[in-house]
Amino acid sequence: MTVEFPTPAWLVGCGNMAGAMVEGWRAAGVDLGGVTVIRPSGLPVEGVRTVSEYPAGEQPRLVMLGFKPQKLEEVVPGLAPRVGRDTFIVSMLAGVTAATLRDRFPNARAIVRIMPNLPVAQTMGVTAIYSPEGSAPGLTEVDRVMTSLGRVVWCETEAELGLIGAVAAAGVAYVARFADALAKSGQAMGLKPDVAREVSVQTLVGTGAYATATGASMAEIARRVASPKGTTEQGLAVLDASDGLQALVDRTLAAAVRRGLELAAEASRD
Ligand SMILES: NC(=O)c1ccc[n+]([C@@H]2O[C@H](COP(=O)([O-])OP(=O)(O)OC[C@H]3O[C@@H](n4cnc5c(N)ncnc54)[C@H](OP(=O)(O)O)[C@@H]3O)[C@@H](O)[C@H]2O)c1
Repeated sequence: MTVEFPTPAWLVGCGNMAGAMVEGWRAAGVDLGGVTVIRPSGLPVEGVRTVSEYPAGEQPRLVMLGFKPQKLEEVVPGLAPRVGRDTFIVSMLAGVTAATLRDRFPNARAIVRIMPNLPVAQTMGVTAIYSPEGSAPGLTEVDRVMTSLGRVVWCETEAELGLIGAVAAAGVAYVARFADALAKSGQAMGLKPDVAREVSVQTLVGTGAYATATGASMAEIARRVASPKGTTEQGLAVLDASDGLQALVDRTLAAAVRRGLELAAEASRD
Protein backbone atom coordinates (compact mmCIF):
# COMPACT_ATOMS: atom_id res chain seq x y z
CA MET A 1 0.00 0.00 0.00
CA THR A 2 1.41 3.42 -0.97
CA VAL A 3 2.10 5.65 2.03
CA GLU A 4 0.52 9.08 1.61
CA PHE A 5 1.03 12.39 3.38
CA PRO A 6 -1.85 14.27 4.92
CA THR A 7 -2.13 16.80 2.08
CA PRO A 8 -1.50 19.53 1.24
CA ALA A 9 1.81 19.13 3.07
CA TRP A 10 4.42 21.87 3.28
CA LEU A 11 8.07 21.25 4.04
CA VAL A 12 9.28 24.63 5.26
CA GLY A 13 13.07 24.58 4.85
CA CYS A 14 14.70 21.66 3.11
CA GLY A 15 18.46 21.48 3.68
CA ASN A 16 20.53 18.52 4.86
CA MET A 17 18.00 16.90 7.14
CA ALA A 18 14.67 17.49 5.40
CA GLY A 19 16.45 16.81 2.09
CA ALA A 20 17.57 13.41 3.44
CA MET A 21 13.96 12.70 4.44
CA VAL A 22 12.73 13.54 0.93
CA GLU A 23 15.36 11.16 -0.49
CA GLY A 24 14.13 8.44 1.87
CA TRP A 25 10.46 9.03 0.99
CA ARG A 26 11.33 8.82 -2.69
CA ALA A 27 13.30 5.61 -2.11
CA ALA A 28 10.34 4.17 -0.16
CA GLY A 29 7.90 5.08 -2.94
CA VAL A 30 5.91 7.49 -0.73
CA ASP A 31 3.45 9.59 -2.75
CA LEU A 32 4.87 13.15 -2.76
CA GLY A 33 2.22 14.51 -5.13
CA GLY A 34 0.60 16.75 -2.53
CA VAL A 35 3.86 17.90 -0.94
CA THR A 36 5.46 21.32 -1.50
CA VAL A 37 8.92 22.40 -0.37
CA ILE A 38 9.13 26.06 0.61
CA ARG A 39 12.65 27.44 0.93
CA PRO A 40 13.93 31.02 0.50
CA SER A 41 16.39 30.05 -2.26
CA GLY A 42 13.68 28.20 -4.20
CA LEU A 43 16.44 25.72 -5.17
CA PRO A 44 14.72 22.67 -6.67
CA VAL A 45 14.42 19.49 -4.64
CA GLU A 46 14.22 16.43 -6.86
CA GLY A 47 10.81 14.81 -6.97
CA VAL A 48 8.93 17.55 -5.07
CA ARG A 49 7.33 20.82 -6.14
CA THR A 50 9.63 23.53 -4.77
CA VAL A 51 8.76 27.22 -4.32
CA SER A 52 10.11 30.21 -2.43
CA GLU A 53 6.76 31.64 -1.18
CA TYR A 54 3.87 29.99 0.68
CA PRO A 55 1.29 28.75 -1.85
CA ALA A 56 -1.67 31.16 -1.94
CA GLY A 57 -5.18 29.96 -1.14
CA GLU A 58 -4.02 26.66 0.35
CA GLN A 59 -4.29 25.59 3.97
CA PRO A 60 -1.77 22.83 4.72
CA ARG A 61 -2.77 19.72 6.69
CA LEU A 62 0.85 19.11 7.61
CA VAL A 63 3.68 21.61 8.00
CA MET A 64 7.13 20.22 8.63
CA LEU A 65 9.58 22.74 10.10
CA GLY A 66 12.99 21.93 8.60
CA PHE A 67 14.97 25.13 9.16
CA LYS A 68 17.47 25.95 11.92
CA PRO A 69 16.00 26.62 15.39
CA GLN A 70 17.41 30.17 15.31
CA LYS A 71 15.10 30.96 12.33
CA LEU A 72 11.87 30.24 14.21
CA GLU A 73 11.01 33.85 15.05
CA GLU A 74 11.73 34.93 11.47
CA VAL A 75 9.39 32.25 10.09
CA VAL A 76 6.46 32.50 12.53
CA PRO A 77 4.86 35.81 11.39
CA GLY A 78 4.46 34.58 7.80
CA LEU A 79 3.56 30.99 8.60
CA ALA A 80 1.32 31.11 11.70
CA PRO A 81 -1.67 32.78 9.93
CA ARG A 82 -1.65 29.93 7.37
CA VAL A 83 -1.88 27.25 10.05
CA GLY A 84 -5.46 26.10 10.65
CA ARG A 85 -7.29 23.76 13.02
CA ASP A 86 -6.55 20.83 10.67
CA THR A 87 -2.81 21.49 10.50
CA PHE A 88 -0.21 19.26 12.11
CA ILE A 89 2.99 21.11 12.97
CA VAL A 90 5.82 18.59 12.71
CA SER A 91 9.01 20.17 14.00
CA MET A 92 12.56 18.86 13.75
CA LEU A 93 13.96 21.98 15.47
CA ALA A 94 16.45 20.71 18.04
CA GLY A 95 15.79 22.05 21.51
CA VAL A 96 12.57 23.95 20.65
CA THR A 97 9.89 22.67 23.02
CA ALA A 98 6.31 21.72 22.20
CA ALA A 99 5.13 24.51 24.53
CA THR A 100 7.08 27.10 22.54
CA LEU A 101 5.67 25.72 19.28
CA ARG A 102 2.11 25.69 20.67
CA ASP A 103 2.58 29.31 21.71
CA ARG A 104 3.73 30.28 18.18
CA PHE A 105 1.09 28.16 16.38
CA PRO A 106 -1.95 28.36 18.68
CA ASN A 107 -4.43 27.14 16.02
CA ALA A 108 -2.58 23.96 15.09
CA ARG A 109 -4.43 20.66 15.41
CA ALA A 110 -1.43 19.03 17.05
CA ILE A 111 2.20 19.79 17.74
CA VAL A 112 4.54 16.93 16.90
CA ARG A 113 8.27 17.02 17.58
CA ILE A 114 10.50 14.69 15.60
CA MET A 115 14.21 14.00 15.83
CA PRO A 116 15.34 12.12 12.73
CA ASN A 117 18.87 11.16 11.74
CA LEU A 118 20.59 11.34 8.35
CA PRO A 119 20.32 7.64 7.38
CA VAL A 120 16.59 8.29 6.81
CA ALA A 121 17.85 8.98 3.28
CA GLN A 122 18.46 5.21 2.93
CA THR A 123 15.25 4.39 4.91
CA MET A 124 17.59 3.19 7.67
CA GLY A 125 17.00 6.11 9.98
CA VAL A 126 15.99 6.49 13.59
CA THR A 127 13.23 9.03 14.19
CA ALA A 128 12.16 9.90 17.73
CA ILE A 129 8.63 11.37 17.93
CA TYR A 130 6.88 13.19 20.74
CA SER A 131 3.51 14.86 20.80
CA PRO A 132 1.72 16.28 23.84
CA GLU A 133 -1.48 15.52 21.86
CA GLY A 134 -0.47 11.85 21.59
CA SER A 135 -3.96 10.63 20.77
CA ALA A 136 -4.99 13.37 18.30
CA PRO A 137 -6.85 11.84 15.35
CA GLY A 138 -4.62 11.67 12.29
CA LEU A 139 -1.37 11.15 14.18
CA THR A 140 -1.23 7.63 12.76
CA GLU A 141 -0.84 9.23 9.32
CA VAL A 142 2.19 11.14 10.61
CA ASP A 143 3.49 7.91 12.16
CA ARG A 144 3.14 6.03 8.83
CA VAL A 145 5.00 8.73 6.92
CA MET A 146 7.89 8.62 9.43
CA THR A 147 7.93 4.83 9.69
CA SER A 148 8.63 4.65 5.95
CA LEU A 149 12.05 6.18 6.76
CA GLY A 150 13.19 3.46 9.19
CA ARG A 151 12.75 2.92 12.91
CA VAL A 152 10.36 5.22 14.80
CA VAL A 153 10.48 5.60 18.59
CA TRP A 154 7.50 7.32 20.23
CA CYS A 155 8.70 9.15 23.35
CA GLU A 156 6.73 9.73 26.52
CA THR A 157 8.59 12.93 27.35
CA GLU A 158 10.47 15.64 25.50
CA ALA A 159 13.52 14.81 27.59
CA GLU A 160 13.50 11.33 26.05
CA LEU A 161 13.25 12.83 22.54
CA GLY A 162 16.22 15.08 23.31
CA LEU A 163 18.27 12.13 24.54
CA ILE A 164 17.48 10.01 21.47
CA GLY A 165 18.53 13.05 19.44
CA ALA A 166 21.83 13.11 21.33
CA VAL A 167 22.43 9.39 20.75
CA ALA A 168 20.96 8.81 17.27
CA ALA A 169 20.80 12.16 15.43
CA ALA A 170 24.04 13.71 16.67
CA GLY A 171 25.31 10.14 17.04
CA VAL A 172 25.72 9.91 13.25
CA ALA A 173 28.40 12.61 13.52
CA TYR A 174 30.09 10.88 16.47
CA VAL A 175 30.16 7.50 14.76
CA ALA A 176 31.49 9.20 11.61
CA ARG A 177 34.28 10.77 13.68
CA PHE A 178 35.17 7.40 15.17
CA ALA A 179 35.39 5.81 11.72
CA ASP A 180 37.52 8.75 10.61
CA ALA A 181 39.82 8.30 13.61
CA LEU A 182 40.22 4.59 12.78
CA ALA A 183 41.12 5.52 9.20
CA LYS A 184 43.57 8.24 10.29
CA SER A 185 45.35 5.89 12.70
CA GLY A 186 45.61 3.26 9.98
CA GLN A 187 46.96 5.88 7.63
CA ALA A 188 49.51 7.11 10.18
CA MET A 189 50.74 3.54 10.45
CA GLY A 190 51.19 3.24 6.70
CA LEU A 191 47.85 2.49 4.99
CA LYS A 192 47.06 4.40 1.80
CA PRO A 193 44.43 7.10 2.57
CA ASP A 194 41.75 5.71 0.22
CA VAL A 195 42.25 2.16 1.52
CA ALA A 196 42.13 3.37 5.14
CA ARG A 197 38.88 5.22 4.46
CA GLU A 198 37.24 2.37 2.59
CA VAL A 199 38.03 -0.30 5.17
CA SER A 200 36.96 1.87 8.11
CA VAL A 201 33.60 2.73 6.50
CA GLN A 202 33.00 -0.90 5.52
CA THR A 203 33.87 -1.96 9.08
CA LEU A 204 31.22 0.46 10.35
CA VAL A 205 28.59 -0.81 7.92
CA GLY A 206 29.52 -4.45 8.52
CA THR A 207 29.49 -4.16 12.32
CA GLY A 208 25.99 -2.64 12.20
CA ALA A 209 24.75 -5.36 9.86
CA TYR A 210 26.38 -8.09 11.98
CA ALA A 211 24.83 -6.73 15.20
CA THR A 212 21.40 -6.50 13.58
CA ALA A 213 21.51 -9.93 11.98
CA THR A 214 22.91 -11.83 14.98
CA GLY A 215 21.20 -9.90 17.77
CA ALA A 216 24.51 -10.09 19.68
CA SER A 217 25.25 -7.25 22.10
CA MET A 218 28.11 -4.90 21.25
CA ALA A 219 30.00 -6.25 24.28
CA GLU A 220 29.61 -9.80 22.95
CA ILE A 221 30.72 -8.74 19.45
CA ALA A 222 33.87 -7.17 20.95
CA ARG A 223 34.46 -10.39 22.90
CA ARG A 224 34.16 -12.47 19.71
CA VAL A 225 36.91 -10.35 18.10
CA ALA A 226 39.28 -10.14 21.04
CA SER A 227 41.08 -13.38 21.93
CA PRO A 228 42.42 -13.52 25.48
CA LYS A 229 45.86 -11.89 25.65
CA GLY A 230 45.66 -11.09 21.93
CA THR A 231 46.15 -7.89 19.96
CA THR A 232 42.57 -6.53 20.04
CA GLU A 233 42.44 -7.07 23.79
CA GLN A 234 45.44 -4.77 24.14
CA GLY A 235 43.62 -2.13 22.06
CA LEU A 236 40.38 -2.51 24.04
CA ALA A 237 42.30 -2.02 27.29
CA VAL A 238 43.17 1.50 26.09
CA LEU A 239 39.56 2.29 25.09
CA ASP A 240 38.21 0.78 28.31
CA ALA A 241 40.50 2.74 30.66
CA SER A 242 38.69 4.91 33.21
CA ASP A 243 39.53 8.05 31.22
CA GLY A 244 38.98 6.24 27.90
CA LEU A 245 36.17 6.08 25.37
CA GLN A 246 33.21 5.95 27.80
CA ALA A 247 34.37 9.07 29.66
CA LEU A 248 34.92 10.83 26.33
CA VAL A 249 31.46 9.91 25.01
CA ASP A 250 29.84 10.93 28.33
CA ARG A 251 31.45 14.37 28.01
CA THR A 252 30.47 14.56 24.32
CA LEU A 253 26.77 13.91 24.97
CA ALA A 254 26.73 16.19 28.01
CA ALA A 255 28.10 19.08 25.92
CA ALA A 256 25.43 18.54 23.24
CA VAL A 257 22.60 18.27 25.78
CA ARG A 258 23.80 21.51 27.45
CA ARG A 259 23.65 23.27 24.08
CA GLY A 260 20.13 21.90 23.52
CA LEU A 261 19.02 23.50 26.79
CA GLU A 262 20.59 26.82 25.75
CA LEU A 263 18.77 26.72 22.40
CA ALA A 264 15.48 25.92 24.13
CA ALA A 265 15.96 28.89 26.47
CA GLU A 266 16.74 31.21 23.52
CA ALA A 267 13.69 29.98 21.55
CA SER A 268 11.27 30.37 24.47
CA ARG A 269 12.23 34.02 25.10
CA ASP A 270 9.56 36.49 23.98
N1 LIG B 1 21.35 17.72 10.32
C1 LIG B 1 20.92 16.76 11.14
O1 LIG B 1 21.49 15.66 11.23
C2 LIG B 1 19.70 17.01 11.98
C3 LIG B 1 19.18 15.96 12.78
C4 LIG B 1 18.01 16.20 13.51
C5 LIG B 1 17.39 17.43 13.48
N2 LIG B 1 17.94 18.42 12.72
C6 LIG B 1 17.25 19.71 12.67
O2 LIG B 1 16.97 19.98 11.32
C7 LIG B 1 16.89 21.39 11.14
C8 LIG B 1 17.62 21.77 9.85
O3 LIG B 1 18.98 21.40 9.95
P1 LIG B 1 19.83 21.17 8.62
O4 LIG B 1 21.10 20.58 9.07
O5 LIG B 1 19.02 20.46 7.59
O6 LIG B 1 20.03 22.71 8.16
P2 LIG B 1 20.39 23.28 6.74
O7 LIG B 1 21.01 22.25 5.87
O8 LIG B 1 21.13 24.56 6.98
O9 LIG B 1 18.97 23.67 6.09
C9 LIG B 1 18.21 24.73 6.55
C10 LIG B 1 17.04 24.96 5.60
O10 LIG B 1 16.27 26.04 6.14
C11 LIG B 1 15.90 26.90 5.10
N3 LIG B 1 15.61 28.23 5.60
C12 LIG B 1 16.46 29.19 6.02
N4 LIG B 1 15.78 30.31 6.37
C13 LIG B 1 14.47 30.01 6.17
C14 LIG B 1 13.26 30.77 6.33
N5 LIG B 1 13.27 32.01 6.78
N6 LIG B 1 12.10 30.16 6.00
C15 LIG B 1 12.07 28.89 5.54
N7 LIG B 1 13.18 28.13 5.37
C16 LIG B 1 14.36 28.70 5.69
C17 LIG B 1 17.09 26.86 4.13
O11 LIG B 1 16.63 27.28 2.88
P3 LIG B 1 17.58 27.41 1.58
O12 LIG B 1 17.96 25.99 1.27
O13 LIG B 1 16.70 28.02 0.55
O14 LIG B 1 18.74 28.26 2.00
C18 LIG B 1 17.44 25.36 4.18
O15 LIG B 1 16.66 24.65 3.26
C19 LIG B 1 17.46 22.05 12.39
O16 LIG B 1 16.40 22.62 13.12
C20 LIG B 1 18.09 20.90 13.16
O17 LIG B 1 17.93 21.07 14.55
C21 LIG B 1 19.06 18.23 11.97
